[in-house]
Amino acid sequence: MEVLIPADRIQRRIDELGRQIQHDYAAQPITIVGVLTGSLIFLADLVRRLDLPLRIALIQASSYRGATTTPGALRIQADLVPDLRGRHVLLLDDILDTGQTLSHLIRHLETLEPISLRIAVLLRKLGRQSIPLEPHYCGFEIPDRFVVGYGLDYNDEYRHLPHIAVLPTPS
Ligand code: IMP
Ligand code: MG
Repeated sequence: MEVLIPADRIQRRIDELGRQIQHDYAAQPITIVGVLTGSLIFLADLVRRLDLPLRIALIQASSYRGATTTPGALRIQADLVPDLRGRHVLLLDDILDTGQTLSHLIRHLETLEPISLRIAVLLRKLGRQSIPLEPHYCGFEIPDRFVVGYGLDYNDEYRHLPHIAVLPTPS
């Protein structure tokens, strides 16, 4: 598979994001809410760069399966999310594509009354967004290709790749 973003470049970018997040929150306690399953690797690498009072929570949202680009019904599984009232919350996802998933999750998390809610994504796919939404932290902007690796999957495979690769389109 064609490597779009090599592993060392991802790691260097996460260094930068970590420094920025650490600076912005200035020692305030935060809860990082990772979106399952795609954000797992990003979450694990990012939190180890943060010297902040920090809690980790997980939320599940599945918008569609496989490489299809038509969003299906979005399901939110929020049982794993602890009390966020009075917390600074940073919602973390692997990729901002149409924006459907994150906008649903934002609406849900806002009902839990955090002090603040910010968004961090590793990737942002250009030319696909249908819901206006600006992430506060973004690793890389990428072209409109289906990518896998570093948490991102195709049918739950390839998440363990240390780099981001382009999935070949079936001919
Ligand atoms: P959105 O709701 O359209 O923004 O889609 C976000 C979700 O779609 C992500 O959390 C991913 O699970 C999935 N997704 C979108 N594009 C890709 C891709 O290129 N590779 C793997 N998953 C993707
Ligand atoms: Mg996902």
